[in-house]
Amino acid sequence: MLRNSLPKIVTAVPGPKSQELQKVRKNNVPDGVSMLAPVFVEKAEGAMVQDIDGNIFIDFVAGIGVLNVGHSHPEVVEAVKAQCDKYFAPNINVFNYEQYPRLAEKLNRLMPIDGEKKTLLVNTGAEADENAVKLARRYTGRSEIIAFAGAFHGRTYMTMALTSKVKPYKFNFGPLPSGVHRFPFPYCYRCPYGLKKETCDLHCAKMFEDSYFLEYVAPDQVAAIILEPILGEGGFVVPPDAFIEALRKLCDKYGIVLIADEIQTGYGRTGKMFACEYWSVKPDMIVSAKSVAGGIPIACVTAKAAIMDSVTAGEIGGTYCGNALAAASSLKILEIMERDRFADKAKHIGEICMKRFFEMEQKYEIIGNIRGRGAMLAVEFVKDRTTKEPAKDETKAIIQECLQNGLVVLGAGVRDNNIRFLMPLVITDDQLHAGLDIFDKSVAKITQK
Ligand SMILES: Cc1ncc(COP(=O)(O)O)c(C=O)c1O
Repeated sequence: MLRNSLPKIVTAVPGPKSQELQKVRKNNVPDGVSMLAPVFVEKAEGAMVQDIDGNIFIDFVAGIGVLNVGHSHPEVVEAVKAQCDKYFAPNINVFNYEQYPRLAEKLNRLMPIDGEKKTLLVNTGAEADENAVKLARRYTGRSEIIAFAGAFHGRTYMTMALTSKVKPYKFNFGPLPSGVHRFPFPYCYRCPYGLKKETCDLHCAKMFEDSYFLEYVAPDQVAAIILEPILGEGGFVVPPDAFIEALRKLCDKYGIVLIADEIQTGYGRTGKMFACEYWSVKPDMIVSAKSVAGGIPIACVTAKAAIMDSVTAGEIGGTYCGNALAAASSLKILEIMERDRFADKAKHIGEICMKRFFEMEQKYEIIGNIRGRGAMLAVEFVKDRTTKEPAKDETKAIIQECLQNGLVVLGAGVRDNNIRFLMPLVITDDQLHAGLDIFDKSVAKITQK
């Protein structure tokens, strides 16, 4: 059974059948849609993907954090099929159906936000972030938004403005919406102020009142501060807890809405249901998507009821938002995640990976930094540990070498010199070690050339 198998490469990658289909893709699909593995999928189960040429890959990307419960979880497949037999999308603006309010009820219970909460369902992560901005602006009556260096919030116009990395996400797509201010993220390995974490005295947080609020934007014009509890696309950088506490204090002092973008960090990935459960403080709004429905598009904005109720009927929502098919998938997934303690699975995976990564750090000079939480981990590659010069080409070569040997991993970071690890949380220990063996050998091969 594919679910329990190990990687097996039986043709060149891509194989002949995938190469044939690549021609159809090349002629008909824009090159702007990026592609990591040039193979076409035949079937996928758990952490394993089989292509149409019979090659079997271990998937350490999981749809970029979409498949925390794994590919084709049997109970989710069953729940979606059962919903298909009834109805798909009567449209919540037209008819009522139980799945929408039931999912909202469940998310309101799970989300680490104080007080009464409400949840809006939409379709994609970017759409959820767009709505988060709309809600924060309406609630506060203010226009300005603070986002961070390294952030990724999506590809629509507002979320392009919120996103940090210029190429490929924003370049020559301007003008972008105004009202977004970007400040440094506490990326301690590459401190934007050149300081050391042990002695910096949280300089980056002090800069808000010492500089940013005087020189760039007045705090009483700021509707929201939006941040990922762990940078996703930005390279899985974990901010110090004290930085988050400082942000919370600023938000309380100036009446700013604190938004946690948990689109990549959420749903058990980091060893807690939500990464901001590690914080000693709570956000006012949480945006989530991806693993909440395991591949059927749905995204969620959960906020204090007062924020949600600042808009009136028709001002938020959309045709497919919170459709019954996606909501049925989500309800089943949340049941499975709580019942089978998925957050603990992430911790277990994280422990195994960290041990292996630190062993590799002893062997390979190219490993500059290892970081993350639970099963959301990254390895940063540098040409020199002292200068920290990014090893961009080597990172790309390691990703390709892994792929040729049956492991799919994805890069990250504004300097393109990280590999991120987001394996499905149902991965077996044997599969995990098999994948890590391929990663280890690939680093050896590329660095010892
Ligand atoms: C943290 C974060 N925010 C927003 C998004 C955008 O989500 P979507 O691709 O569903 O629009 C992503 C997608 O990777 C993400 O990781």
